[in-house]
Amino acid sequence: MPESIPESLQTKIEERLRYYEDLGIRLFYRDREPSLVSPENSSPAIPQASSVSIPEESSLPKAKAKVAVPVVAASVPRIAPVIAPSGPSLFEVVEKVQDDSLLKIREDLGECTRCKLHKGRNKLVFGDGSPKAQLVFVGEGPGADEDAQGLPFVGRAGKLLTQMIEAMGLQRKDAYICNVVKCRPPENRTPEPDEVKTCSPYLLRQIDVINPKVIVCLGAVAAKTLLETTRGISQYRGEWQEWRGRKLLATYHPAYLLRNPPAKADVWKDLQKVMAELGLQLPKKKS
Ligand code: URA
Repeated sequence: MPESIPESLQTKIEERLRYYEDLGIRLFYRDREPSLVSPENSSPAIPQASSVSIPEESSLPKAKAKVAVPVVAASVPRIAPVIAPSGPSLFEVVEKVQDDSLLKIREDLGECTRCKLHKGRNKLVFGDGSPKAQLVFVGEGPGADEDAQGLPFVGRAGKLLTQMIEAMGLQRKDAYICNVVKCRPPENRTPEPDEVKTCSPYLLRQIDVINPKVIVCLGAVAAKTLLETTRGISQYRGEWQEWRGRKLLATYHPAYLLRNPPAKADVWKDLQKVMAELGLQLPKKKS
């Protein structure tokens, strides 16, 4: 007879399983040896609980009024890039396409079979939102819900992202949302370097066509890809970076926030920086 599990542990296990299910992970294998997972390659390290009050999903503040503020790229620090030694910079290999457009990029992708991710794909997830957005969010890659619907960030993490956008005083359709890879990695594993290398030229073209003022990288994969760095996201999260003449800020992935709600305080601080840059203001409290 198996030993009974204490109720508190059972609740924790249930919560964790629900989190994995949200990510589309439904199969589990037991390691023979305990494995060491590098936090850099999965989710960022759990930040220390801060004294800042934590905005709850339903109580993120509302903002209004949209006034554009010019971007001063020159004052933005650049992370020292750590470019993969095996090839040229991602940005050097992307050829400029004449009169490029989102439609052209989508057509170029077609029924893409350029990398192995196409094998398990139901729907390619191109991107969603305004082609003229001042703000672009870049995630990692589609999960199960996104793969089923062909739209980015529509699962539980996506709902949280939508709430975060709304708390900034925007609607989801005002921003543009896309991912580093356009097809779902099996069991939602981290995209592999060859997959990122194959897919990211299309991401770069999307960003160039949209020409946003601000790019927000959601999580380590997006941040490391665009900044071409191996440095962990916790080292530069919330700090403005210069990226191809635009401003880029990396913050935690919404899926991480679902697991670690206290980190919402950090993300909210980051998003307030983005709001300031875009001239978005929180409404004044009624006295
Ligand atoms: N996570 C991502 O990184 N992207 C999605 O589209 C959904 C979940």
